[in-house]
Amino acid sequence: MVSLTTLSLFITDLDRTLVGNDSSLDRLNQILDRYRQTWGTKIVYATGRSRASYQELATAQSLLAPDALIAAVGTELYVGNSETPDPEWVERLSTNWHRDKIVEIASRFADLEPQPPAEQRPFKVSYFLSPSVVADVVPQLQQLLVDRNLDVEIIYSGNKDLDILPRNGDKGKAVQFLRDRWQIDPIETLVCGDSGNDISLFKYGKERGVIVGNAHSELRLWYELHPVDYHYLAAAEYAAGIIEGLNYFRFVE
Ligand code: GLC
Ligand code: MG
Repeated sequence: MVSLTTLSLFITDLDRTLVGNDSSLDRLNQILDRYRQTWGTKIVYATGRSRASYQELATAQSLLAPDALIAAVGTELYVGNSETPDPEWVERLSTNWHRDKIVEIASRFADLEPQPPAEQRPFKVSYFLSPSVVADVVPQLQQLLVDRNLDVEIIYSGNKDLDILPRNGDKGKAVQFLRDRWQIDPIETLVCGDSGNDISLFKYGKERGVIVGNAHSELRLWYELHPVDYHYLAAAEYAAGIIEGLNYFRFVE
């Protein structure tokens, strides 16, 4: 696809998308730094990690400082250098979110093993779940939550992680919110991901999207079921897949 537009907003997942191969990460960092200096491109990370866990990774991997961090699978947004979550985003997620009730209902399922306390966030309840029981457990869990009027989103990623989030609190919704605030067009936006919690990045708007070559089956399957010419499945893995995607979309250099 020839796009001949500038890249105004670059959004990427971290683990197994931006991060995974050190030399291609270095190459991509140089490219992004050049875009940022030439076109003022904004760089945003959208991760499942908490902010504290992101900071550990950022130090270990020398990541570029982002213009915003979307953390905890979209449920927390940190704009600029702010250490506190964006209050407007918090306000939006608070509507009809009853964390204690969700935890109580989920505790009825022996197969749902709670993730460590550091991964439990104000608007994110996370478990481990074996892929062999997902098809049984998730519909039953969903039904019980609906019966209690709890309107949530359940996301299964990487064949092991199950997150329960507010309906409007995923990574993709956070991107739409940021684009609105910054007044950036979807066609000048690129999103990149590898797993189930990245599907929302691709499904709401017409942002250009790159799926890296090492993507998990749940995202590949979604891509195959929703073919559009503004999404690209790269052959290369991790950051090299993102570079391949940048070349494919031909943003103005
Ligand atoms: C990250 C988070 C974890 C979450 C997973 C999938 O690994 O740390 O809590 O379940 O992403 O979204
Ligand atoms: Mg990932």
